[in-house]
Amino acid sequence: MKKYGRVYNFSAGPSVLPLEVLEKVQKDLLNYEESGQSVMEMSHRSKDYQKIIDDAEANLRELMGIPDNYKVMFLQGGGHLQFAMVPLNLLRNSKKADYVVTGTWAKKACKEAGKFGDIRVIASSEEDKFTWVPKIKKEDIRPDADYAYIVTNNTIYGTKFNYIPETGDIPLVADMSSNILSEEIDVTKFGMIWAGAQKNVGPAGATIVIMREDLIGFAEANAPTYLDYKIHADNGSMYNTPPCFSIYVAGEVFKYLKSIGGIKEMEKRNYEKANMLYDYLDSSKLYKAPVAKEDRSIMNVVFMTGDADLDKKFIAEAKEAGLINLAGHRSIGGMRASIYNAMPKEGVEALIEFMKKFESENC
Ligand SMILES: Cc1ncc(COP(=O)(O)O)c(C=O)c1O
Repeated sequence: MKKYGRVYNFSAGPSVLPLEVLEKVQKDLLNYEESGQSVMEMSHRSKDYQKIIDDAEANLRELMGIPDNYKVMFLQGGGHLQFAMVPLNLLRNSKKADYVVTGTWAKKACKEAGKFGDIRVIASSEEDKFTWVPKIKKEDIRPDADYAYIVTNNTIYGTKFNYIPETGDIPLVADMSSNILSEEIDVTKFGMIWAGAQKNVGPAGATIVIMREDLIGFAEANAPTYLDYKIHADNGSMYNTPPCFSIYVAGEVFKYLKSIGGIKEMEKRNYEKANMLYDYLDSSKLYKAPVAKEDRSIMNVVFMTGDADLDKKFIAEAKEAGLINLAGHRSIGGMRASIYNAMPKEGVEALIEFMKKFESENC
């Protein structure tokens, strides 16, 4: 039995957090650093909380190498609010934006943006069930587009952009909800990055926005105040009550990432885990991995047996063995192992051992 009776949790989100962070949160819970109160009970206007959010931002900046001309915001509303906030703020000239549709979340973002402007799908892999990622060239993007939009990692289909599209002067907007902090990236290639916290960052409730300063301040005049990035940027994410506890836990995750050697080390561990699993899948007779090899996600590994009943049996028996949340998204079925930053190598090893055993019993 693992410590505290915990299991290996392969949930796509909300998902596993580093045990070290959970233990720290537990220790802090009743009396945060001699303040006599829990972070949950603390005024967001207090000195103690100001330090928590300032440290979280500083550590995120350090981890990701975020330059000074980018603002960092901690917002609420999750991914679905960003689907609307992005066009409301960034359709600032031609009211045109170009989207790359590589999965459900890109499709939903694109549809929502369509309420606000002239939105075009410049590439899509939908007809192949999103099993690959299109190669985008600058010429594919309309020269007067206000921005181009991608989802860097496709949580449901298990693909990722293994390159950053070259967009020239057109700001590139990226939904990094399911791979932020998983490997080193060059922030300067993006006009804006956003990510829901609930995968690699912390508990659900906070959404991180990293935005180049010159893109802030163009919200539609009739946009609700909360939906204007400027109000949050000008007020240090404290225009209203922020998702205090979620930001605090995220801050602890950032400290933890720094303590293990930062994103470089995390990236090394992530590729090691993902390669182990894909190598096994490629050698297996029972399981198939549908994604094009060069576009494979290192966060969400999708596989199936090809027999829906056998998949169900796999998921049920895996759960019995302490390997939970391995069902694929309800829209595609099969299996999906989400192996985010906090999934230890031992968890992937245990999964492979189980898969081998299941294969020998069912092949
Ligand atoms: C890549 C990506 N974008 C957006 C979303 C939607 O996020 P939310 O549920 O916070 O609205 C998800 C959810 O899993 C996701 O994986």
